[in-house]
Amino acid sequence: MSGNITFTMIKPKAVAKGYMGKIIDQIIAGGFKIKALKYTKLTKQEAEQFYAIHKERPFYQGLTDFMSSGPIIAAVLEKENAVEAYRNFIGATNPEAAAEGTIRKLYGTNIEANAVHGSDSDENAVIESNFYFSTREWNY
Ligand code: RTP
Ligand code: MG
Repeated sequence: MSGNITFTMIKPKAVAKGYMGKIIDQIIAGGFKIKALKYTKLTKQEAEQFYAIHKERPFYQGLTDFMSSGPIIAAVLEKENAVEAYRNFIGATNPEAAAEGTIRKLYGTNIEANAVHGSDSDENAVIESNFYFSTREWNY
């Protein structure tokens, strides 16, 4: 299982703009299978915990304020080589630099409000999936 899953969030701005259906359609059309899906909202403390690896970065406060500012969609996705495949699929962190047609290019607002999150390693994909879901909800 590990190596074939990644974790994603549709971030508050993209949800608020009503893009969640289009983004989920694009994810499915890209060959990613949804294993678990949740519409929820992070508290500031939960956002800080989720992004703890970025604690020392200058954008940590702004990012965690933003990520707790409204509802998000959390999902576990399955595909061969899922982490790398999904990062390539969504486009660069900064929507202005993202390739044409990618989710971040189409639906991102700026580098912080960049439409979606994607795990950066197999290990973090499991940690992040378990942050939102019980293991039995995605690991089946
Ligand atoms: P993500 O974790 O959301 O999939 O994005 P990423 O790997 O492409 O980027 P990362 O370096 O992990 O940064 C996490 C999120 O922090 C925000 N960010 N803001 N203001 C800035 O310079 C800046 N840099 C990064 C973005 O929302 C990024 O997705
Ligand atoms: Mg990252």
